[in-house]
Amino acid sequence: MELRNRIVMTAMHLGYTPQGEVTDRLVDFYELRAKGGVALIIVGGCPIDEYGGMAGMIDLSEDKFIPGLKRLTTSVQAHGAKIAAQLYQAGRYAFSAMIGGRKPFSASAVRSRLTGETPRALELHEIPAVQDKFAEAAVRAKKAGFDAVEILGSAGYLICQFLSPLTNKRDDEYGGPLENRMRFGIEVVEKVRAAVGPDYPILFRIAGNDFMEGGHTNREARIFAAELEKVGVDLFNVTGGWHETRVPQLTMFVPRRGFVYLAEGIKSAVGVPVLASNRINDPEIGEEIIRNGEADMVTMARALIADPELPNKAKNGKAHLIYHCVACNQGCFDNIFQLKPAGCLVNPRAGREGELPIRPAEKRKKVLVIGGGPAGMKAACTAAERGHTVILAERTNQLGGQIPLNRHIPGRQEMLLIAKDLENNLKALGVRIMLNQEAGADLVKEISPDAVIIATGAGPIVPDIPGIDRDNVVQAWDVLAGKKAVGKRVVIVGGNAVGLETALYLASIGTLSPEVLHFLITNNGESMDFIRERLNRGCKYVTVVEMTGKAGQDIGLSTRWTVLAELRRLGVRIMTNTKALAIREDGLEVEKADGESFIEADSVVLAVGSAPNNDLSEELNGLVPELHVIGDANKPRNALDAIREGLMIGLKV
Ligand SMILES: Cc1cc2nc3c(=O)[nH]c(=O)nc-3n(C[C@H](O)[C@H](O)[C@H](O)COP(=O)(O)O)c2cc1C
Repeated sequence: MELRNRIVMTAMHLGYTPQGEVTDRLVDFYELRAKGGVALIIVGGCPIDEYGGMAGMIDLSEDKFIPGLKRLTTSVQAHGAKIAAQLYQAGRYAFSAMIGGRKPFSASAVRSRLTGETPRALELHEIPAVQDKFAEAAVRAKKAGFDAVEILGSAGYLICQFLSPLTNKRDDEYGGPLENRMRFGIEVVEKVRAAVGPDYPILFRIAGNDFMEGGHTNREARIFAAELEKVGVDLFNVTGGWHETRVPQLTMFVPRRGFVYLAEGIKSAVGVPVLASNRINDPEIGEEIIRNGEADMVTMARALIADPELPNKAKNGKAHLIYHCVACNQGCFDNIFQLKPAGCLVNPRAGREGELPIRPAEKRKKVLVIGGGPAGMKAACTAAERGHTVILAERTNQLGGQIPLNRHIPGRQEMLLIAKDLENNLKALGVRIMLNQEAGADLVKEISPDAVIIATGAGPIVPDIPGIDRDNVVQAWDVLAGKKAVGKRVVIVGGNAVGLETALYLASIGTLSPEVLHFLITNNGESMDFIRERLNRGCKYVTVVEMTGKAGQDIGLSTRWTVLAELRRLGVRIMTNTKALAIREDGLEVEKADGESFIEADSVVLAVGSAPNNDLSEELNGLVPELHVIGDANKPRNALDAIREGLMIGLKV
């Protein structure tokens, strides 16, 4: 199989096939990615039987799905891309409620932390039939025109469950020593190979390290890969660990190219091509990995949700116009967790390509956008793409609205790309950007636009608490912007995203930076105990008080636990069900269920939410033919909503 470049889009369950059948939505989504230049698209996971799937996956368990799948494969191939189907059997990661109330099976009856359920152990005599399902599904994929199949042997699914001593407690030939635990996966490959014939490509997705305590590392993965190669695997797609791991796999805390070393490990053990995966969101990084010889190809999953045109932009010298995946997971993974279709924060058209085409405007207008946050920038870009003449007026000296507040928050720097990418595109589209520009009736009269879009964002709320005017009180936004300093002991009022992220920033001040850490370890400068201590402790004592019973409620499910884990590691105290009563010179009086108490602090940081900045709608009313209010200026929410509203108004204006 020959590929047109070295970019592969890996399998993602997107929720675009509610009945398992291929839909227009799925075809539109992948067709656009194929047009965008990716070499190989792997779709799925595709359930191979009625036991191991999840609601709304692309079904490969029966022949009746073949005609729909054929439509998908031909649409993708028409644009020069290849397409593969991922053969998915979740084992103990299947939710019984999603498989018709059936009890999931696994190597052994070991409870799954993902589902909270305990599967039943497969009987020895049942194993061949389960393996046959992989082979039958592979034949179906071949009939449907897929160029290859990928066997899912990562993330803790059935093949991993047989492989790992954590989930395989069997005492027959499929359990015990590694040699036996590898048997299930090896036989699956043998059966698939026998079924599809010698020339049909078989890919295998492997966990480069399970990241499970007592589980497999890259050492065992290398042994497994070498054995799989012998029985016919043509390519290894190396990812990170299991769904149950406590090591983040998908959030911004995973550094870019963080798991490439795992692919390099597998590459050292096999002779067939190896793909590096996870957090490769820019062609420069991919180029570097391939140039270095760390892997033969790179995968981009979310990066191609965010920008289907990424490969073409890279190829055509337009890499600066790429909209990068920022690993926020807000549109994709967090929706999938809630059984909703995947979307994207930076690309609100993702999964809605057919429904939301970008058509040239019927009448070219002069559009004035007021406010250069994400909503305003997206509105300006979209309007300009449709042929309007667009002017963007921003009051401050920079674009991005609240986005630049992420600059100092550990693990949040990727967010800055949102503003940078939009800015690059605005410039390329010829949008006139006016910084340090107050906008009001005068400006509108001067410019005389056909339409005005107000996207003036929000400002932080000042709560009505005694002592709020004291010198020791600052707004979280000012702390994050570097405008205000705080003392050694800090109490943050408000435990939603802004409060927790401010806590993360403040608690990390004084911890060892990656460079200092590297320097100390490589030179044996300090003991590992000392290093660990100084990694986890900064120079401030931070407490967060939250009125409700749960902190971080507005952070997506996939990210919330990683933020809380980081705060715990850094020793931040989070007090829920705690209400701020009054600010004193030396701290904060609070009320808890068991009575009032006092938290000593040098500074009190406010993070109690925001209110719309929208005095302009009244001022401009009647001055222009079209007046719209979008984003936080309408109602404070998050960047996902802001960018979506920007797109929608840009399509409408
Ligand atoms: C919404 C979503 C669904 C996913 N579903 C699957 C899946 O079914 N099978 C699989 O092997 N990986 C799945 N993944 C993992 C991706 O293939 C990819 O490895 C991961 O997103 C990290 O790579 P990236 O940083 O390029 O996105 C999924 C990821 C996301 C975001």
